[in-house]
Amino acid sequence: MSSSLASTVLGLQFQNPILLAAGTAAYGRELADVMALEELGGFVTKAVSLEVRHGAPAPRVADFAGGMINAVGLANPGVDGVLANDLPWIAAHLRRPRVLVNVVGREAADFGAVVARLDQAAGVEGYELNVSCPNVKQGGLEFGADPVALAEVVRGARVATRKPIFVKLSPTLPQIGEMAQRAVDAGADGITVVNTIPGLVIDVEHRRPVLGFGSGGVSGPALLAVGVLAVRRVRQSVSVPIIGAGGIQQVTDVVQYLMAGASLTAVGTAGLADPKLPGRLVRDLARWCDARGVARIAELIGTLEWPS
Ligand SMILES: Cc1cc2nc3c(=O)[nH]c(=O)nc-3n(C[C@H](O)[C@H](O)[C@H](O)COP(=O)(O)O)c2cc1C
Repeated sequence: MSSSLASTVLGLQFQNPILLAAGTAAYGRELADVMALEELGGFVTKAVSLEVRHGAPAPRVADFAGGMINAVGLANPGVDGVLANDLPWIAAHLRRPRVLVNVVGREAADFGAVVARLDQAAGVEGYELNVSCPNVKQGGLEFGADPVALAEVVRGARVATRKPIFVKLSPTLPQIGEMAQRAVDAGADGITVVNTIPGLVIDVEHRRPVLGFGSGGVSGPALLAVGVLAVRRVRQSVSVPIIGAGGIQQVTDVVQYLMAGASLTAVGTAGLADPKLPGRLVRDLARWCDARGVARIAELIGTLEWPS
């Protein structure tokens, strides 16, 4: 038997459920020489903001036993730079992977403004709103932690596009299911969980943080169990498609996310360390399904049986 990994999610055809997570695939072109992008289900671009962002001071990333910590500061060329230089490359070179653009803003209105600027560009098939970033108008509280700001962000993006919108939530939200519901009520088509979790790694010899910014976002293996639970909680609250991310390293990690209720998964940190890993996961998933008589990945999604 040969399993099919393909699925249609929000009208987009994914050849398999393995994507690259935002910020770890840049805008595709940067990876084209080291990664077989055409084998993947898709990727989420690095964040795009209205303005050019130069990002946080170096060092921006560091390893630790649980994975990685980063404070990149959402450095990006701004929406005009991405429109001029990055999206044309995606449109000209990529056929099979679906491409979602990750959007950030300093204030709620920025999200809709970025989406409006991008929406006619070839190469953009949907959006992922990174609401884990600070809202400068509200003293840095993250958009996703404030139901009013969250709804404003999503509504602003919704009126700017008919393409699919995923909203990416942080695992630190105490009521992640409720916030997912808020996002859906405001017009989101899907939810991505999880973003990085705040952390601090100290260089003890110098008594300083290892990152130039100080604290950062933790990603990698430490996030797997956190992400899988977040997917389950979101799945219990809303019925829209979920992209599961956090700590994926091997095929059973992908299967855990699917069983918890994700339709798609995204690989970040592990693909930075080994660019061949995401493609290997696609082949491993096909073999895993074949060996168990799973004909279609829909047979896995949301099939977790909770102990009674
Ligand atoms: C270096 C780096 C940059 C990231 N940049 C973004 C970003 O621009 N937007 C975003 O929503 N998430 C960003 N993330 C979070 C990832 O997309 C992902 O949600 C998180 O790393 C968990 O997955 P992982 O454990 O497989 O890395 C970034 C993560 C890393 C490691």
